Amino acid sequence: MRPGLETRPDFPVLAQQVNGKPLVYLDSGATSQKPRQVLAAVDAYYERDNANVHRGLHALSMRATEAFEKSRARIARFVGAADPAEIVFTRGTTESVNLVAASWCSANLRPGDEILLTEMEHHSNMVPWQLAAARAGATVRYLPVAGADAEHGLDLDRLDEFLTPRVKLFAFTHISNTLGVVNPAAELCRRARAVGAATLIDAAQSVGHEPLDVQALGCDFLVFSGHKMCGPTGIGVLYGRKALLDAMPPYQGGGGMIENVEFSGSTFKPAPERFEAGTPDIAGAIGLAAACDYIDGIGRPAIAAHDHRLGELARAALEELPGIRVLGPRAGSPRAGMVSFAFANIHAHDVVTVADQQGVALRGGHHCNMPLMKKLGLPSTARASFYLYNTEEEVAALAAALRKVVKFFG
Ligand code: ALA
Repeated sequence: MRPGLETRPDFPVLAQQVNGKPLVYLDSGATSQKPRQVLAAVDAYYERDNANVHRGLHALSMRATEAFEKSRARIARFVGAADPAEIVFTRGTTESVNLVAASWCSANLRPGDEILLTEMEHHSNMVPWQLAAARAGATVRYLPVAGADAEHGLDLDRLDEFLTPRVKLFAFTHISNTLGVVNPAAELCRRARAVGAATLIDAAQSVGHEPLDVQALGCDFLVFSGHKMCGPTGIGVLYGRKALLDAMPPYQGGGGMIENVEFSGSTFKPAPERFEAGTPDIAGAIGLAAACDYIDGIGRPAIAAHDHRLGELARAALEELPGIRVLGPRAGSPRAGMVSFAFANIHAHDVVTVADQQGVALRGGHHCNMPLMKKLGLPSTARASFYLYNTEEEVAALAAALRKVVKFFG
């Protein structure tokens, strides 16, 4: 199956009208829609196998445990992990970053150390590090973006200035959720290794959109959410290299993560169980594995090419509009299927509201990137984000809706 029209029957939610117009869903950067195949996998689990995992000796519990662990192995294959034990289930990208920031930093970060981030990080890959640095007496620094509209992505010419031996961890996004910039993740990991820094990649916007292999990337940690890649909400993943995970202290305590408990103290299981206190999101993990199957059935190279084409078409169409400022990569540069833009005298919330009246779903605001917005001199932007089910006709619908926005606000 090819991305675009052929996939539409798998997404019943897309076949509806909003405000009397056919829905044009261009907010997959916030959350993707879910195909029938994922919904069916979640339903089948609840209808046949629902029981708690790793606890019961009865048939349903054993089936649930098997399905849960098979899902872990499927997700390990999806990201190229050497061992399913390198896959920790979390609630999402945010919790995955918080886990590493709390656990790894408590064991590895000392006063005077530095954590390097970039100016294009989502708050979820910024605030947890600020908290961890404050606890440890460490400093957070930010690799700048280049260009008045951040059109050149990260300022890699300045990487040596920031990536010094003081940096203990370099955390960066693979694809910016605001700019659509695709960062050279393997190169950034290689440079970090050369100064002895660990790396964490925020793959929330990339893992369901383009080919990705943690071993080829050479990262230490990689984090993502299920809901942005056709999976359910409430399930996410922390990939961590086994040696690092095994050396990290627990994040949360509770059932499922202990080896032995005494009144005087406890010992803990190895990873990944050490980091999975409490009953996990079993159905979510099964749904996420089904999402991996669905995405691989289409192929991430084809999805990446499709996203890129729609992103380029949208950028070109938007640049025709009067008074518009389009952020991020220019024509012909690597880019994701995501375009952020601002009109000189129209607030992004007004843009999104009028577009919604045309059936077009956009996101407007600071996109959890407040410092970047301030740096670019913008209070907010509107954003169109595309995925495997979007079509060229929908790019045309976006352009038509924005022409109405411009006309409406004069
Ligand atoms: N991080 C999500 C977005 O960019 C919510 O919209």
